[in-house]
Amino acid sequence: VTIRRVLVVGSGGREHALAWRFARDPAAPDVLVAPGSAGMTDVARRHEVRESDAAGLLALCKEQRVDLAVIGPEAPLATGVADTLEAGGVTVFGASRSAARLESSKSFAKEIMRAAGVRTARAEWHDALDSARRALDRATPPYVIKADGLAGGKGVVVTSARAEADDFLAQCLSADRFGESGRRVLIEEYLAGEEATVMAVCDGARFVLLPAARDYKRARDGDQGPNTGGMGAFAPLPLADAQGAAIGREIILPVLSEMMRRGHPLRGVLYCGLMMRDGKATVIEFNVRFGDPETEVVLPLLDGSLTALLSSAARGRVDGAAVSQRPGATVGVAIVDEGYPESVRGGGRLEGLDAVASQPELAVFHAASERHEGGWRIRGGRAAYVVAHAEDRVRARARVYAALAGVGGTGWRVRSDIAAGDLADRGLQDEAEVQRGEA
Ligand code: AMP
Ligand code: GLY
Repeated sequence: VTIRRVLVVGSGGREHALAWRFARDPAAPDVLVAPGSAGMTDVARRHEVRESDAAGLLALCKEQRVDLAVIGPEAPLATGVADTLEAGGVTVFGASRSAARLESSKSFAKEIMRAAGVRTARAEWHDALDSARRALDRATPPYVIKADGLAGGKGVVVTSARAEADDFLAQCLSADRFGESGRRVLIEEYLAGEEATVMAVCDGARFVLLPAARDYKRARDGDQGPNTGGMGAFAPLPLADAQGAAIGREIILPVLSEMMRRGHPLRGVLYCGLMMRDGKATVIEFNVRFGDPETEVVLPLLDGSLTALLSSAARGRVDGAAVSQRPGATVGVAIVDEGYPESVRGGGRLEGLDAVASQPELAVFHAASERHEGGWRIRGGRAAYVVAHAEDRVRARARVYAALAGVGGTGWRVRSDIAAGDLADRGLQDEAEVQRGEA
């Protein structure tokens, strides 16, 4: 099947990266995006349909004769946009509403993992402040507390400070900070180790692994500050790629089988947030979509046809031969509003980004930004990502920070330690151990 026209649903950096990669597909499809952002018009045509507007998206697919629709964000998946498109006869890559519960309900995900025998952190659930506080009395720090539902990556606190833990419980269970999503909390066992993101493109029964990545979730250098939607990432992550076969056998296949057995086959991405320790992976969380910002660093590492990969999965027969991994490494850094995530002000300015985007081996993926007086204005927390590719991670990192040094403006900041220092070095050390272990 030749994909002549593909629609990307969403408007963030992940969706820009998808559209950018589709624009480079050997099938040379038309790329549409809904609603998209101003930054995506370099690679896609925008249509003003909201990502939550299932009927509007179906009408758009019909009218434009879209051959493949790819849904980026979790919210439309959780409300069943993929179901509506599929029922209307559209080939759609994205989880059904029932499969999306793997992400939208942490308790459902734990239940599936228990049934499938997948290693994950022990957890207990609380709906009442009293019982949750008593659970913390029994727990040993660091405390890990999570809102049960979707909270935009901000519904998790990992802290050794009891006051902070209590405060988060109160925000969820009495102040209603996350609404319905936070009326139930999980208190979870703390896992030590190296984090890894492994994404699998799934057709319900089978899967194809994409290169593993590391995401930097904390707001500040040195992994300080609150959790964010993601401050940067790099790929590949050999430490996790070396365990790919085991991750497929012990995590991905059992979960796909259990979801199938329950009548919720997952056609879409199974995103595994993993903690790696002693060569073993333990699941922190599942998502049913491409990671953000992992996608921004993983897609530039793929050769071949992403449309062929995703449409084959959507049709129930994923074709692993459609893509292959390019040599080298990518590093991506988020440009965020100065006050992100606690107090986003907006209105900052970015200058020189277009010059960065036009350089070889560099890409700019826009998120909450808009064009303004020849530059870009910041509209929200994460404005844009700058991603560099090079022969290896050290060079990719040097290239991305050199590019950022040429970006001007006001009201924004970046983490200066993505893919560097302690965190990446620890990863490298482990990789060396893995390689020695295999020799
Ligand atoms: P989540 O949204 O569940 O991925 O959690 C956000 C971040 O909190 C993760 O990427 C980890 O850095 C951290 N985290 C979550 N759960 C745990 C855990 N059980 N042990 C240690 N760190 C965790
Ligand atoms: N980067 C984390 C996520 O996409 O949930």
